[in-house]
Amino acid sequence: MKHKNLIDLEYMTTEQLEQTIRLARIIKDKPDIYKHACDGKIMATLFYEPSTRTQMSFQTAMLRLGGKIIGFDNPLNSSVAKGENIKDTITVISSYADIIAMRHPTEGSAKAASLYSSVPLINCGDGGHFHPTQTLTDVVTLDFEKGRLDNLKIGLCGDLLNGRTVHSLIKTMSHFEGNSFVLISTKELSVPQYIKDILDNAGCEYTEADNLKDAISDLDVLYMTRIQRERFSSEEEYQSQKGVFVLDTEKLALAKEDMIILHPLPRVDEIAIEVDDDPRACYFKQAEYGMYGRMALIVLLLRPEGSFSFKTPDPIIRTDRICSNPKCIITDPQQYYLPKNTYEKDGNICCDYCDRII
Ligand code: CP
Repeated sequence: MKHKNLIDLEYMTTEQLEQTIRLARIIKDKPDIYKHACDGKIMATLFYEPSTRTQMSFQTAMLRLGGKIIGFDNPLNSSVAKGENIKDTITVISSYADIIAMRHPTEGSAKAASLYSSVPLINCGDGGHFHPTQTLTDVVTLDFEKGRLDNLKIGLCGDLLNGRTVHSLIKTMSHFEGNSFVLISTKELSVPQYIKDILDNAGCEYTEADNLKDAISDLDVLYMTRIQRERFSSEEEYQSQKGVFVLDTEKLALAKEDMIILHPLPRVDEIAIEVDDDPRACYFKQAEYGMYGRMALIVLLLRPEGSFSFKTPDPIIRTDRICSNPKCIITDPQQYYLPKNTYEKDGNICCDYCDRII
C-alpha cells in the first residue's frame, strides 16, 4: 500500500531522499522556477508544542511556493482546549487543507493522526520519537556544505538519549558508504542500544567518548545538541547534565579547518556565542537550508497521487496487547478510539505508533 505521510525519514528510499536534496538545491539557486508551484494549495500547520524553525520554515516554504497557510501554534487557541481529540481535528482539517504539518508532544501522535488524514501529513516532531524534516534539513546541509553524504566522520555531542534528531540522523547517515560516528555524551545520556544495533547491522564504525576536547580533532562534522530539559522527569536530573559539554573557541582551535558545526537549534548554552563568528559554524545556514528542503518536500508530496509516495513498512497486526510506553499516544485516554495496531519486527511485536517493543 502506498501513502504520502512522512512519519519517519526512513519511509523515504535513498533515491527519494537524493531527489529531494537535488530539488532543494534547484529551489535555492533558482527560486523563481517554483514560485507558483503551489498556487491554489493550502497547508495547515498544527503545532501542539512550541516551535520556531519547523513551524515558520514550513509556513514560509508554502508561501514562497505560492500557496497559503492556516493553522494554530497554540492548541489552547483551538478546540483542542475544549477536549477535541486528534481524530476529529485531523478529519476536519484535512477537508480544509491540501497538506498538514503537525507537531505534538506525544510519541506516536503523528502516526495516529495520519490514520485520519485524507491529505499528506508531515510529522514535525512527535515527542521524543521522530522529527524527519529536521533530519532532512541536516542532510541537505551536509550535501550543500560538504558536497557529499558519504565518507564523513560525524561527531554527535550532548543529549544523545533524548535527542530525536540524533537518532534519525544516525539512521539516515548509516545508509551511506564509509560514514563513521563518534558519540560524545555522559553515560546517562548515551545513545540507546537500538541505535548501536542499527550501526552494527549497517557495518558502520563508531566509538563512544565523554570528552569533546579529545574527540574533536579528526571530525568532518560536529553535531551539537541541547540537553532536552522537557524530557527529564526532574529538574535535579536536568541540572546534573546541563553544561557538561560546551563548544567554545578553545576547543574549536583543535578541530579541522573544514569541519562544519551543525545544531538543530534552539541552542541553550552548549555552543558559546563566540563560536558563531567562526566560518565553520553552519547552524544558522542549516536553519535556512531546512526551508529549501521543506519546499522541495511540499512540491514532491503535492505531485499527483503515486508519483512520490512511501511504502508502508510492515503489515499491521490488530491485537489486544497494549503498548506499555507511558509516553505513547495509545496510552492517552482522550485517544481511546485508536486501534491497537502493532507490527512484527525481528520476532518482536512492536507498537505501530511509538515503535517500542511490546
Ligand atoms: N530544530 C527545531 O525543530 O527547532 P524548532 O523547535 O524551533 O522548530
